[in-house]
Amino acid sequence: MDAIVALTHPLDPLSLEEIAAAVAILKAAQALSATVRFPIIRLKEPTKADLASFRQGICLPRLAFLLAMDISNGETFEAIVDLKQSTVASYVRLPLDEMPFGQPPVMLCEFETIEGTVKSDPRWIAAVKKRGITDEDIPLIQIDPFSSGYFGREFEQGKRIVRAVSYWRGDIRDNGYAHPIEGVVAVVDLIANEVVDLHDDEKIIPVPKKKRNYGRESFPETRADLKPLHIVQPEGTSFSVDGWKVEWQGWSFRVGFTPREGLVIHELGVDDQGRQRPVIFRASVTEMVVPYADPTANHYWKSAFDAGEYGLGRLANCLELGCDCLGQIHYFDVPAADDFGQPFVMKNAICMHEEDYGILWKHYEFRNGIFEVRRSRRLVISFFATVGNYDYGFYWYLYQDGTIQLEAKLTGIIQTAAVANGETYRWGGMVDDNLGGPTHQHFFNARLHMDIDGGGNTVTEHDFVPRPWGEDNPYGNVFDTKTRVLKRELDSPSLANGETGRYWRIQNANVTNSVGKAPGYKLVAMPSPVMLAQPESTVAQRGGFAKKHIWVTAFDEKEKYASGDYPNVHAGGDGLPAYVKQNRPIENADVVVWHSFGHTHVCKPEDFPIMPVEYTGFTLKPNGFFASNIAMDLPPEVNRHSIDNRLEASGDKLAQSCCGK
Ligand code: NI
Repeated sequence: MDAIVALTHPLDPLSLEEIAAAVAILKAAQALSATVRFPIIRLKEPTKADLASFRQGICLPRLAFLLAMDISNGETFEAIVDLKQSTVASYVRLPLDEMPFGQPPVMLCEFETIEGTVKSDPRWIAAVKKRGITDEDIPLIQIDPFSSGYFGREFEQGKRIVRAVSYWRGDIRDNGYAHPIEGVVAVVDLIANEVVDLHDDEKIIPVPKKKRNYGRESFPETRADLKPLHIVQPEGTSFSVDGWKVEWQGWSFRVGFTPREGLVIHELGVDDQGRQRPVIFRASVTEMVVPYADPTANHYWKSAFDAGEYGLGRLANCLELGCDCLGQIHYFDVPAADDFGQPFVMKNAICMHEEDYGILWKHYEFRNGIFEVRRSRRLVISFFATVGNYDYGFYWYLYQDGTIQLEAKLTGIIQTAAVANGETYRWGGMVDDNLGGPTHQHFFNARLHMDIDGGGNTVTEHDFVPRPWGEDNPYGNVFDTKTRVLKRELDSPSLANGETGRYWRIQNANVTNSVGKAPGYKLVAMPSPVMLAQPESTVAQRGGFAKKHIWVTAFDEKEKYASGDYPNVHAGGDGLPAYVKQNRPIENADVVVWHSFGHTHVCKPEDFPIMPVEYTGFTLKPNGFFASNIAMDLPPEVNRHSIDNRLEASGDKLAQSCCGK
């Protein structure tokens, strides 16, 4: 069976053949029934220590992780399949019927059955008819199966449920989110395939019927004054790709992809005068949650954990239709598995290209006429996931000066609420007649398994503070940087602070930099609000990671996700708050830095029908990592395609480049 492992590196994602083999081996060994589905199939990744052995020439096993769930009874098993031995290395039943419960993510195959289950329920039919829906309307009604949250009710405990909300549509291309059916929520048990609870508000709010569509046919008149803008790379790109390995401008890394996280960056390192220095062992976004701040029936339970309850990788867009990037693009096709364990290719799931990014550095010395300027270029590695109404882009940027950035792009359609005539929406902003958008927050968590120069890493926290008047501050102008070493895990949960410019530095104290200090990278976090739900609320218990911006843990292979392994219909308490309770030492250790960041969203008319992109994210900047600005050796090239607009306007065909050549 060794032949199926035709890949070159232990971190390469499972191939189509390996996915098929893993499923076949497990099915045969456990005599799985035809009702078993596979919500997750991925590589069981080797650890840092495994890879160190691999570099010494030791052969590693090739392992697949499979989550196998029987949809006839909900029984769920975690399996590890050894692909080289063709054996099942472990097969463990999950106690999902016991507190604190939890469920595998919602699968696409379940989405299809939910609509039929809801629309055939007589209580749901009666409830929507009270709101003016006719028998002719029902086939066109859009049913959104939303991960349910958890409130301790009997039909939630240990059950595989979703809550379904409904939208009227005038035709199949109509934007249902403009027409929410307010006050009707069906709770669907996905194992029993029945509606186990139907909420029908006493207050009847009519369905808003004003059309708010976004298809191009809705905007036949487009603006006419937009001229073409082309990015031309006549000599090709500056990066090289070898399988899943990428090199660009001194950077090197491996691309990975998992069903839950989507894009993963492995073994990110940077060249320093001919020496490749490790920076991050593994980087990904392991969770995002969107808690809503409306206490009414359609909304109070909404808190989608888009990674853990659906899977950002599973819902990644295949960018076959063209992506939003300009220039020369390298796409990665990703081998994946459907719910039945059938392998398939996610075509163009990851996009990589270069972008011009304005000025990297510049100086003009008037005394001697030296004028030097260099433009900045960045490498962009990205993917987009559509999770129901929202669309999220995840863009990793690498810069020529050693900077690393992650930017999340939020777009798509907001959740909506119907508002009665003459009333105004209490729980968010009005976006159109009779249509409100509930206030909500989006939280992401990036997991950064650090590896600054290999070996033990330490995280320190820094605040800028004024120095009191005194002999060492006679003019009152001095201020200090206060430093705190995060020694144990419970020292680490912390908030960004705009007032003190708080930042964190991940450093390797076992190595000395050019000025005698520990080389490091600085994490620049945005001081945006953390989760504002009450600490005792179930959403705050389930999404506790979003209560702090920063957490640091000692690496443990089992601690992969900010919200824990199975946040779906989970009672809470798992993930980062539980991990740090162990209070392990994190000074000069194998540390994982977890950063929660987000966007707090009060809806407004400009968000509809499709919201222009909102941005959030963070930056890691070299901080005493290099001995100098590593981008001084960029060539002083002149962009000969730049044209002085005044010369062109005057018809001068000898228009000169703006850089004077
Ligand atoms: Ni939003």
